[in-house]
Amino acid sequence: MAMTAWTAPSHSAPRHVTILGSTGSVGQSTADLIARDPESYCVEALVAANSVEALAEQARRLKAKMAVVANPQRYRALKDALTGTSIEAAAGPEAVTEAASRPAEWVMAAVVGFAGLAPTLCAARRGAMVALANKEALVCAGRLLTDAIRESGGVLLPVDSEHNAIFQVFDAGQRPAVDRLILTASGGPFRNWSLADMAEATPEQALAHPNWDMGAKISIDSATMMNKGLELIEAHLLFGLPSEQIEIVVHPQSVIHSMVAYRDGSVLAQLGTPDMRVPISHALGWPSRIDGPAERLDFANLSPLTFERPDSSRFPSLRLAREALGFGGLAPTVLNAANEVAVAAFLARRIGFLDIARIVEDVLAAGDAMTTMVASLQQVHAAESEARRRAEEAVKSHELTI
Ligand SMILES: NC(=O)c1ccc[n+]([C@@H]2O[C@H](COP(=O)([O-])OP(=O)(O)OC[C@H]3O[C@@H](n4cnc5c(N)ncnc54)[C@H](OP(=O)(O)O)[C@@H]3O)[C@@H](O)[C@H]2O)c1
Repeated sequence: MAMTAWTAPSHSAPRHVTILGSTGSVGQSTADLIARDPESYCVEALVAANSVEALAEQARRLKAKMAVVANPQRYRALKDALTGTSIEAAAGPEAVTEAASRPAEWVMAAVVGFAGLAPTLCAARRGAMVALANKEALVCAGRLLTDAIRESGGVLLPVDSEHNAIFQVFDAGQRPAVDRLILTASGGPFRNWSLADMAEATPEQALAHPNWDMGAKISIDSATMMNKGLELIEAHLLFGLPSEQIEIVVHPQSVIHSMVAYRDGSVLAQLGTPDMRVPISHALGWPSRIDGPAERLDFANLSPLTFERPDSSRFPSLRLAREALGFGGLAPTVLNAANEVAVAAFLARRIGFLDIARIVEDVLAAGDAMTTMVASLQQVHAAESEARRRAEEAVKSHELTI
């Protein structure tokens, strides 16, 4: 699989930017960086799902031209919250995509889940620099997204801290000299829990990530380690290495964000404090480097850095993601859809923690035609909605009776 090309486009100042998912964890960190240096950015559009008050506050603060909520029923509330400003308000899924089509040269794709695919693809197709946090979009659409970037002359800038780390130390001109990518994983809140305890885990316990402060969906994915599974697929698509050359290592301190091992024996790593503003700053300034506010690493006072193998018997999601990548075609789309449904059901206390992976496994096992090449967006949508339907059925069969 061809690796995404990273060629620096011409740079304009101020940089015109759009944030898709601006009210979320990654979106707020991006807004924070922009607010620290307002002269350097011009905000075209901000997008959220429902959080009208937070969105309107950001739009005022960042002097955005447009603010969009995906939920059409929140239009009136958004309009009211923007009274007295010249900020354009809009609502609904089409307006979200329209926001992505605005002439921002840099777009932060930080909507959570499959819902982020349409606007991310829109930005990719018009040749924007797409700062990609929304890993589910890439996992589901795969080549459609990387091809769109290549054909439009755009750029895909990895924001996930692991992929951003690899991006920083991956020598694209020496690809045959790369032995393997090493994705680090914190291990999540249940790293040392027994299976019996994990079976009883509550959403509150699963949401309590030891190192990172993130949105609910990715926090649960970190607890099941499906997050690392999605990242394995993401790394394959971004850097073009096969599954066998992508290793996952548990590194509980989250100081080394990932590594590239070369055939001569050298291993290059990127390090930093666990603060998403580090990779976001890297993407926001790219190809230059900008000042970032994250706490600096203090090596003399750092706790020892440790590493261990992931335990795929307690975290079967890792194996499932590797299998989906091995199947190819639409299997990653099916994996992701089933996982989104199962995570939402766990958060709604309908199923137990260990049922999340069971449901994903059931849906993956039942998937037909998964090895079909992903040729169109319609195919992706059809596979995703069929997998969702199956996952909903599986949720019903695992539903807790309290
Ligand atoms: N958080 C992290 O540290 C981190 C690290 C690496 C990668 N990522 C990835 O980045 C993405 C965002 O994660 P997050 O933790 O920032 O999530 P989050 O805190 O849940 O925020 C999600 C954002 O997306 C918006 N949104 C949800 N559905 C939408 C829709 N249908 N249309 C438009 N906007 C929608 C939400 O708006 P409302 O506020 O109105 O709901 C919110 O602004 C995920 O794919 C995640 O895997 C996150």
